[in-house]
Amino acid sequence: MEEKKMVNIKIEGHPYQVEAGLTILEAAKVCGYEIPSLCAFNHGECSLASCRVCLVEATGARGLVASCVYPVSEGMEIKISSPKATKARRTSVELLLSNHNMNCQQCVKNGHCELLHVANITGAREGVYQGVKTETTLDILGPGIMRDTSKCILCGRCIERCKKAQGIGILGFEKRGFNTIVAPAGNRSFATSPCLQCGQCTLVCPTGALTEMSEIPQIDKAMAEGKYVIVQTAPAVRSAIAEEFGEKIGTCGTGKMVAALHRLGFYRVYDTNFGADLTIMEEGYELIHRLTNKGTLPQITSCSPGWINYLEYYYPDLIPNVSTCKSPHEMMGAVIKTYWAEKKGIDPKDIFVVSVMPCTAKKTEEIRPQNGHDGLRDVDAVLTTRELARLIKRSGINWSKLPEEEFDPDLLGDYTGAAVIFGVTGGVMEAALRTAHKVLTGKEANPVTFTDVRGLEGVKEATLNLNGTELKVAVTSGMKNAKVLLDEIRAGKSEYAFIEIMCCPGGCINGGGQPYVKPCFLPNEDDNILDTYREKRAKVLYDEDERLPIRQSHNNPQIQELYKNYFGEPLSERSEELLHTSYNADRVRFPEN
Ligand code: SF4
Ligand code: SF4
Ligand code: SF4
Ligand code: FES
Repeated sequence: MEEKKMVNIKIEGHPYQVEAGLTILEAAKVCGYEIPSLCAFNHGECSLASCRVCLVEATGARGLVASCVYPVSEGMEIKISSPKATKARRTSVELLLSNHNMNCQQCVKNGHCELLHVANITGAREGVYQGVKTETTLDILGPGIMRDTSKCILCGRCIERCKKAQGIGILGFEKRGFNTIVAPAGNRSFATSPCLQCGQCTLVCPTGALTEMSEIPQIDKAMAEGKYVIVQTAPAVRSAIAEEFGEKIGTCGTGKMVAALHRLGFYRVYDTNFGADLTIMEEGYELIHRLTNKGTLPQITSCSPGWINYLEYYYPDLIPNVSTCKSPHEMMGAVIKTYWAEKKGIDPKDIFVVSVMPCTAKKTEEIRPQNGHDGLRDVDAVLTTRELARLIKRSGINWSKLPEEEFDPDLLGDYTGAAVIFGVTGGVMEAALRTAHKVLTGKEANPVTFTDVRGLEGVKEATLNLNGTELKVAVTSGMKNAKVLLDEIRAGKSEYAFIEIMCCPGGCINGGGQPYVKPCFLPNEDDNILDTYREKRAKVLYDEDERLPIRQSHNNPQIQELYKNYFGEPLSERSEELLHTSYNADRVRFPEN
């Protein structure tokens, strides 16, 4: 292995050896100093050096330098706390505050706000500089995310994240000079732009300028009206919700989350994993049907709504390749308002289904007209993991004192290890292969047979031989990565039979509605937490899969009951009607506003 080149530097007069090529900000961190920063993000993912909050003095440079972009060099002496550097950083923050809408009490970022954090540590105060403020835009047409430019500090992180994760660059700088704002082209609304509503931009925004559209008020109303408010939680939520209450990343929050939901007054608390097992039954049989009837291949998974938005905007010609299965929470909602309602003797009109999801795009999925039945939506409200944490805090529930409780067991309570791993890239594929193996070979596969599709790489592939049928499969996450596979299909060059696509890099564990991972608020995590948090969350799900006694969807006893008593078999007329959906080939990328 090549030896790293090191350089000798001094910080505040103390000597250190650090890797050559690091920025001053990174080198200082390695040496145990925290220089305030705002626009910089994770190894220069965004390096506009626009905020000037990280200014320090350094020999060899004329005056003050932006430590987030300035590299260390041999013999460099760095002064972080000199009066000149300290005053300059405070002034930079005060200038940002002078053009900021400081209504912190009403801001969902309060408690996670990096601007308030740097104001606190630099000693900056609001009102030191006063003047005209930039005209602002409040885009609340949603339905997944909102934009409030009065809170924007023009750091550019969102622009870079959208390009890096999704490869589409919805956001950019619009207008000029003092009037500059961040917006979709032409300062359009998200609702009239080809935005996936994936929320990846909300994860990196340091302020309250980009956040999810909250649906907490709808839940309050349904509770007040005395509806049967039933909640379901997606697998990835448990992998991260404990972070919102100060627990280490990688802590499993299932038991306490269920206890909190019971205390919040939900009539039933179910796991979307039941819906995930149902999805595998329908999607697995759909694949087998396509394979044996010369159907359109490759079949592509359909459970990621950000991906479905991308499909409809950018690759509508590939709609025939996409599974018609609704996503697991939509299937679950449909089953609650039919099978479950019939069994309980409750009028479906009195049922209100809430999905807690790691995802902002699920808020776009719940309102699709094709995701409902008999004039009722399958799902009535979607909360992100972050919104659920807010609801728990609002109710005065002390997370640390909660006991561990189980999901409600009646009718829809069983779930398997196959369902749990839906929350991580490769999980749907692995779960589907466990069932496809049984159907095609008649034998139960050892669950560890299909682990080739695990890992966080952008594209993974595997070849399996199932009773003489060779299946070549691929798994991808992040639309920038997916584009490669989609272009192959479009060109007629794809070798795959089945492809799993997740919109967010790493899958739902890294969904746009998950807790923020902001190192400045995580003093007890590793220095490289931005590189490792996805693995830590994924491990929560793989560990649960290993612990569960049943690990194949087709062996879920309540799923077997559901088919026996209600649907008959996968792809039956009744299941096509309730569990499958359709896509829109005519979504216009830039409609007239
Ligand atoms: S973004 Fe931060 S500083 Fe601005 S209103 Fe929200 S909490 Fe306050
Ligand atoms: S929601 Fe997703 S697609 Fe839309 S601007 Fe943000 S990162 Fe880009
Ligand atoms: S919206 Fe947020 S991430 Fe984007 S430039 Fe403004 S403050 Fe930065
Ligand atoms: S963090 Fe360095 S200029 Fe913004």
